[in-house]
Amino acid sequence: MDKSIVTALSNPHIPCWTNASNQETFYGRELSVRLLRKYAVETGLDTGCDIDLIFPYIRRSSSLLEVGGGYGRVVRKLLEKNYQGEINVVEKSRVSCRELAENFQSNIVLNETDILKFKTEKQFQSVLSMWSGVADFSREEQQAYASLLFSCCAPGGLLILDTANSNKNLPHAISTEKQYYSIVGDGFFFNGYIAEKDEILLNFQKAGFALLDYLEYVTNKSICRRIFVFQK
Ligand SMILES: C[S@@+](CC[C@H](N)C(=O)[O-])C[C@H]1O[C@@H](n2cnc3c(N)ncnc32)[C@H](O)[C@@H]1O
Repeated sequence: MDKSIVTALSNPHIPCWTNASNQETFYGRELSVRLLRKYAVETGLDTGCDIDLIFPYIRRSSSLLEVGGGYGRVVRKLLEKNYQGEINVVEKSRVSCRELAENFQSNIVLNETDILKFKTEKQFQSVLSMWSGVADFSREEQQAYASLLFSCCAPGGLLILDTANSNKNLPHAISTEKQYYSIVGDGFFFNGYIAEKDEILLNFQKAGFALLDYLEYVTNKSICRRIFVFQK
């Protein structure tokens, strides 16, 4: 096994990880889709309760960008709720893109790329970064992520961000130091950083967004989560 992986496995919350390393050590691997489905059930997000909460904000938007579409949990729920706008998805993982293409090819515009390299002429009325998408970026990367999402959002459009509100009680996380967490399994791992509410506000307001709404909710597995609704 790669030496850096061995080092990280023995000390998984070392703060030198990046969004790109999470792709190498987890999202880009075949097992990621199966595990994401399992984690969704364990956290209660398989119900799409987060999408039920945000749907009133996005139902009338004619274009939507989901950042990091995963295995299609959000897309499936949007379609179930009869969302009428154009659904665009940016997803870096080849494995997730294959899953999205197999299940939703005729329903979405799929861009297999890194969001930080996403080039588009379009701006979207709704931009979604659900299920801790922001936490996949290290503390040092989160400002760049905020600025990139700002450039994707149409003037007056909304950015909706969902994260856990603490690294405590994450059912599959093994380390809970400060705001960092790590998920480690047989031959894979990834790291996350749960920014404080004020840190999220600072980064996203600095990027140009204004906070429109802030919601806290609890899933059916008793996991406390929060949603930020920003406007450009
Ligand atoms: C936790 S999953 C969330 C999936 C989906 N948004 C949901 O709510 O069910 C995060 C997804 O974001 C993708 N992702 C992480 N970093 C990315 C990046 N830089 N560019 C594009 N996709 C990324 C991962 O590959 C993964 O599929």
